[in-house]
Amino acid sequence: MYGILEKEKLAPNVIHFKIEAPAVARKARPGQFVILRVDEKGERIPMSLAGWDPARGTIDITFLVVGTSTRKLSLLNPGAGVLNVAGPFGRPAEVEHYGEVVCAAGCFGVGAILPVAAALKEKGNRVVAVMEGRSKAFLFWEDRLRAVSDELVVATGDGSLGRKGWANDVIADLVNAGRRIDRVIAVGCTFMMMECSKATRSHGIPTVVSLTPIMVDGTGMCGCCRVQVGGQTRFACVDGPEFDGHQVDWDLLISKQKSYLDEELRSLNLWERANWHKLMAR
Ligand SMILES: Cc1cc2nc3c(=O)[nH]c(=O)nc-3n(C[C@H](O)[C@H](O)[C@H](O)COP(=O)(O)OP(=O)(O)OC[C@H]3O[C@@H](n4cnc5c(N)ncnc54)[C@H](O)[C@@H]3O)c2cc1C
Ligand code: FES
Repeated sequence: MYGILEKEKLAPNVIHFKIEAPAVARKARPGQFVILRVDEKGERIPMSLAGWDPARGTIDITFLVVGTSTRKLSLLNPGAGVLNVAGPFGRPAEVEHYGEVVCAAGCFGVGAILPVAAALKEKGNRVVAVMEGRSKAFLFWEDRLRAVSDELVVATGDGSLGRKGWANDVIADLVNAGRRIDRVIAVGCTFMMMECSKATRSHGIPTVVSLTPIMVDGTGMCGCCRVQVGGQTRFACVDGPEFDGHQVDWDLLISKQKSYLDEELRSLNLWERANWHKLMAR
């Protein structure tokens, strides 16, 4: 059992856990992820590392509650634990000295981008953090993102805080204002990463995205996480999760992410029927 030490509700449906996982914390690098199982009947769910502390033996994850497994996870509290935490998986993020780097994040991606932004800043880059949310209520950890960047720009879909719009609009603003951008890193939902890649493509700004296709084993064995990048088949778990956003076949990725929608909805429906009392007690 991997104990949950801290739980924090960050935004509607976004939760932070600090979990005891000393072996992962010893080896973790920015951009990597873990695969966890909530209980003995649980599926394997990948989660990006939002932080780790080798001395305390802890890791941090931030997650969006979308379906059965993340709903089960969201009901756990400090004192309880998850059955397995395996990892770290994936190639660490590329961290070099590029110059001015935009780190764009939304939703759970705000947690996931923190270690990457911190490492880029430590390498001497000027880090411009861009955070998006549907509204002010969906933004969190501005203080943490500010601490690892030189500049923070906030965008909300409804204009309730910062620029009205999304991360891709902020990137377009920066480009149109003549700002030199040497690299963009986008982490969040697939649509957001696709839009950020579109915003930089015609300007030739290298853009890295952290892909989240459906994964099972996370070790390159099952082939489930296949993505097309630059016309080649790549396995996101071992070749990624970072890829060149201008080379990703986004339509294929989005359609593959919906492959099991019927089964996922059925699973959630059955789980909620059996566990309505746990949801009421929240
Ligand atoms: C490398 C990687 C890192 C990720 N990091 C985070 C993170 O930090 N925070 C976060 O909230 N989410 C993250 N995800 C996505 C997360 O794994 C899924 O949201 C979760 O598995 C959904 O499970 P569910 O049972 O709650 O939802 P379901 O109802 O089973 O699925 C909802 C949707 O989630 C996606 N999904 C389902 N199963 C998987 C799976 N095994 N692997 C990937 N996607 C799946 C599908 O698109 C599906 O339509 C990451 C995914 C990957 C591949
Ligand atoms: S998750 Fe199985 S090959 Fe990547």
